[in-house]
Amino acid sequence: MKSSLVMARLLRVLGGWRSYCSKRQQERVSDDFVETLKAVVGEPNVSIAAAVREQHGHDESMHRCSPPDAVVWPQNVEQVSQLAALCYDHSIPIIPFGTGTGMEGGVNAIQGGICFNLTRMDRVLELNADDFSVTVEPGVTHKALNSYLRDSGLWFPVDPGADASLCGMAATGASGTNAVRYGTMLENVINLEVVLANGKILYTSGQGRRFRKSSAGYNLTGLFVGSEGTLGLITTATLRLHGIPEATVAAVCPFPSIQAAVDSTVQILQSGVQVARIEFLDDVMMDACNKYSGLTNAVAPTLFLEFHGSNQGLREQLQRAEEITQQNGSSHFTWSKELEERKQLWAARHNAWYATLALRPGCKGYSTDVCVPISRLPEIIVETKEDLKASGLTGPLVGHVGDGNFHCILVFNTEDADEHRRVMEFGKRLGRKALAMNGTCTGEHGIGLGKRQLLKEEIGPEAMETMRQIKAVLDPKNLMNPGKVL
Ligand code: MLT
Ligand code: ZN
Repeated sequence: MKSSLVMARLLRVLGGWRSYCSKRQQERVSDDFVETLKAVVGEPNVSIAAAVREQHGHDESMHRCSPPDAVVWPQNVEQVSQLAALCYDHSIPIIPFGTGTGMEGGVNAIQGGICFNLTRMDRVLELNADDFSVTVEPGVTHKALNSYLRDSGLWFPVDPGADASLCGMAATGASGTNAVRYGTMLENVINLEVVLANGKILYTSGQGRRFRKSSAGYNLTGLFVGSEGTLGLITTATLRLHGIPEATVAAVCPFPSIQAAVDSTVQILQSGVQVARIEFLDDVMMDACNKYSGLTNAVAPTLFLEFHGSNQGLREQLQRAEEITQQNGSSHFTWSKELEERKQLWAARHNAWYATLALRPGCKGYSTDVCVPISRLPEIIVETKEDLKASGLTGPLVGHVGDGNFHCILVFNTEDADEHRRVMEFGKRLGRKALAMNGTCTGEHGIGLGKRQLLKEEIGPEAMETMRQIKAVLDPKNLMNPGKVL
């Protein structure tokens, strides 16, 4: 029998087993328990409707939907705490949920349980403009925060592709196009309010604190950033803000080869030009973005850049960057200060995921996100393109090359067992290639469901055991988003 047929049968059997499991999980949450949830948050804020559970059982990744047993919408931290304590007493899993825009199956309720949708807690609680900080509830998204900040002269730079919630971004250690200049969530979170599995509330830097730096004790903020909902529910985040630069210029630059584009990136960074954004798109991605977002750029390996600073400083930065790109064979370095043009360019970049999915309607996407030391970037990108060709897969490249981080967005037919297998194998191979270059298997999407084996290989048995021990102390019954990360 052909291996693809065997695989298809195996997947059907597994599908049957999963639906059996999900029925069993459904039985675990009794009607009485659902009533106690309603007593805490009110009837309209609890749902066991199949469509609602389904909608909360997956993110944007290709991981198969695993619906929770019920969804709750708490309105404040006291309710989150009471709901968690109830789940704890009944040993029922807790899955935090924000916008559901993650890329690694982080919200899939693989052991059933209660999904805590935190989007109705969506207030900006405190803006301290003079201290460059703001405190937000978990439902505030990064775009909503920047709209709120519009007249303050400040902004929050971390910008993943989707309009994700800020506490969800803290939970996944998100980043985006500005990280090369302003850092990731790790560098931009000052304090977190967290509800633990047993309902207790802790503040990672102490209640109400919003200092710029501290040497006090263990770094609990760093522990919860990137914990992917496995240690607690993040119910407020105090974030670091930045001043809006005097001037901003965006530039686009096509290259004769991938090598030339990546070499330019490395040289621009080495020359001390402080780029705010430097994003690489390969020719396939450029074509997809042109079609999806109505751009007319050359179909070639391309850099999108942005520079922030004073008018005088920008002139020098632009000149230096243009010289470097010309030395690497690029003949067009077009730039613009116009807000609308800049907005259109970055909107197209942020829609790269959807532009890729549109290449094969009806198919699903899987975005790899390895990150390597910048000196190894040209090598890994060129090898990735070769591997894509040899594997017969569609996978445009886009990425935050200034950080050594890039995505290969694989678009494939999940019903085609053979293609599915090739995608999975490709992802693992790429992850291992990054590890062999002293990099990481995930620069920004997290471990979730799909990269647990790679995490083991990346950090080794002692670090892995330490992570397990930390998890056991904070979540002794293994109720917080079980089955993820570890
Ligand atoms: C991005 O950079 O656009 C996001 O990380 C999503 C993706 O991986 O495509
Ligand atoms: Zn990204």
